Amino acid sequence: MEKNRHAGQIGWRSPSNIAIVKYWGKYGNQLPRNPSISFTLSQAFTETIIRYRTKEDTSGISLDFSFEGQPNDGFKNRIAQFLEKNKEEFGALQQFHLDIESKNSFPHSSGIASSASSMSALALGLCSVENSIADNTLSGTELLKRVSHISRLASGSACRSVYPHLAAWGQLDDIPGSSQDYAVELDGIHPVFHDFHDDILIVSKEEKSVSSSAGHRLMDGNVYAASRYQQAKDRTAILYAALKSGDVEAVGKIAEDEALTLHALMMCSEPSFVLMKPNSLEMISRIKDIRQRKKLPIYFTLDAGPNIHVLYPDAIASQAKEFIDSELIQLCEEGRVIRDRVGHGPEQIQNFSL
Ligand code: DP6
Repeated sequence: MEKNRHAGQIGWRSPSNIAIVKYWGKYGNQLPRNPSISFTLSQAFTETIIRYRTKEDTSGISLDFSFEGQPNDGFKNRIAQFLEKNKEEFGALQQFHLDIESKNSFPHSSGIASSASSMSALALGLCSVENSIADNTLSGTELLKRVSHISRLASGSACRSVYPHLAAWGQLDDIPGSSQDYAVELDGIHPVFHDFHDDILIVSKEEKSVSSSAGHRLMDGNVYAASRYQQAKDRTAILYAALKSGDVEAVGKIAEDEALTLHALMMCSEPSFVLMKPNSLEMISRIKDIRQRKKLPIYFTLDAGPNIHVLYPDAIASQAKEFIDSELIQLCEEGRVIRDRVGHGPEQIQNFSL
């Protein structure tokens, strides 16, 4: 990376991720109540470019923000609040004005949670700017830990997006190096999961009726909270073992159990939320049915919304496509599907087209 203490630009493309064991419940400054494990995706990503230049007033970070070519005050304020809240983290950046441009590979109103890709792309940019102006540059694992930590402060799930293939966040004895503070790459995973598919079926592109932050807060009053956190710990350990041994069926079972648990927790929160739609349930029933009838390893998961993520190994890609195209696409809003799969993590953007 070229060093320049006064001005420069840096760009990153960072992917979304899909959790198999879900992060749901937090405390303190964005610390998770339970560990989580996710697949890093590849087709759903955010590209963010930061142009920086020194300014006279060094009492705080100043910024401009545009999204998909248009100035966007909503996003700008969210980033400004995040930088202000965590300003002791960003001492070196106070001397700069930041001009940030961002865009997503997926339509903004597709019901896809964009905070994992957007906040990890932002954190990559901020940490790269810091690094390019500092003498003691971080590199390798230490740099990724810092990026993951900063991503976490912006949005919990974003901290898992910075690694290839699979990442774990939250302290767990079975996972070496794991931490509450940042995610780590999961090593020793069976290759069948390195190119696993995740086709995202858009059941509704409406904005979510409850934000993730509000949803996490509802866990504080949930009567099942303590047993849920223990269950997530137990499932994380079982999942890690299944990921290492290549046990697709065990991984698929945990993915489905976790998705249904997440939605059940929301249904029994105070107030309660039902985030699935009739077509989400119909898709779930058709996925279970094809698995039964044709013995195909096709599984589902969901985030905190109605869209269905269809998970399957690359070896059955053509049968899965045929099933999705003939039985599920008609249940999607405007026939929308994002065909995604596990990927290699963030990449630095070399030529800026934003
Ligand atoms: C259901 O990371 O969006 O997707 O930390 O408040 O930004 P904040 O929450 P967020 O929560 C994501 C929750 C989830 C499960 C998961 O990704 O683990």
